[in-house]
Amino acid sequence: MSLDTEKELFLNNIDDMLQTTINKGAHTVLIVDDEVNNLQLLKRTLRGKYNILTASNGQEGLEVLENNIDRISLIVSDHKMPVMEGTEFLERANKISPDVIKILLTGFSDIEILMDAVNKCNLFQYMLKPFDPVELEQVIDSGIDKFDLASSKSAILKDLRELFYKTIKSISSALDAKDPYTHGHSLRVTLYSLILAKELNLTDKTLEEIELAGLLHDIGKIGIPQSILCKPGKLTDEEFAVMKSHPENSEKLVSSIKKLSGITEWLKAHHEKWDGSGYPGHLKGEEIPISARIIALADTYDAMTSTRSYRRALEHEVAIDEIKRCAGTQFDPNLAALFVKLQDTIKAAKENPEEYYEKYSYLQKEIHSSIS
Ligand SMILES: [Fe+2]
Repeated sequence: MSLDTEKELFLNNIDDMLQTTINKGAHTVLIVDDEVNNLQLLKRTLRGKYNILTASNGQEGLEVLENNIDRISLIVSDHKMPVMEGTEFLERANKISPDVIKILLTGFSDIEILMDAVNKCNLFQYMLKPFDPVELEQVIDSGIDKFDLASSKSAILKDLRELFYKTIKSISSALDAKDPYTHGHSLRVTLYSLILAKELNLTDKTLEEIELAGLLHDIGKIGIPQSILCKPGKLTDEEFAVMKSHPENSEKLVSSIKKLSGITEWLKAHHEKWDGSGYPGHLKGEEIPISARIIALADTYDAMTSTRSYRRALEHEVAIDEIKRCAGTQFDPNLAALFVKLQDTIKAAKENPEEYYEKYSYLQKEIHSSIS
């Protein structure tokens, strides 16, 4: 490396350090260009307004992006570069960071190729070279405005999502608290359902809905009198009829909430049995939605292994024997076999539900990952 090149690099580094110090807290723009003159012109144009990071080719640009993924708001890239063309760089950058605003600088002759690249790169805008620095600055400013708008929208959505989830969880806990014998029931049913569901390669959306359905499956009990819910002895036929209305009540209560429209049938069907002897619809076999079959198993296991007003809790092993015995009559035989296979995890989760729920909760993970 010649003395002049070393000097230039040293000065560039000092320049970058100063930029970062001066503009701390402002947006960071990554400029990728193999022409030093262009880089300097762009840096001068944006100096004092944005933090600037630079790279002299696409490969280096990807490395800078990966190392600064939470800082970079916008990328300006040249098209004709050694190692990797600008369109390929931006396409790969889009996979790493789809929300970052991308601007491409290009010669007039590349336009046709570029039109095809616009969608692939999720391009905000391209600019023809030679560019007017003032015009480019305006494009960058409007790109940053778009970035800010999208960030604030997604922050609002995150807040709403968190509020929705916490509300569901509070309602579920309030329901469990109505009867001291069912304390933590909905959370454990949700947990066991998630342990089963995660083995079934279901989509993220279905896992999310199973979690919501687990938390809300007994929400219809809110309308059942305490005298029936907590009765120490056997229910009379009339009382049992009232109790049996809770799955349909659960369905009715959530049916007006659009976000929960996917789970209403599951709530209604969580007391159906594989052989058709359940309620309220006497659905049989695969007529019962799979999520309702999962919740039914989890619900029954938790009911058996919890002390109730009318009997003491059964041992885990006794409950597992009962699940084996009722496979194919009360329960989906395949799901019952899966439950038995996963029994060690389920038993450990029963001993420590809060810790296991943290691990298995899809919604909590979503919220935490979107906050961090
Ligand atoms: Fe129930």
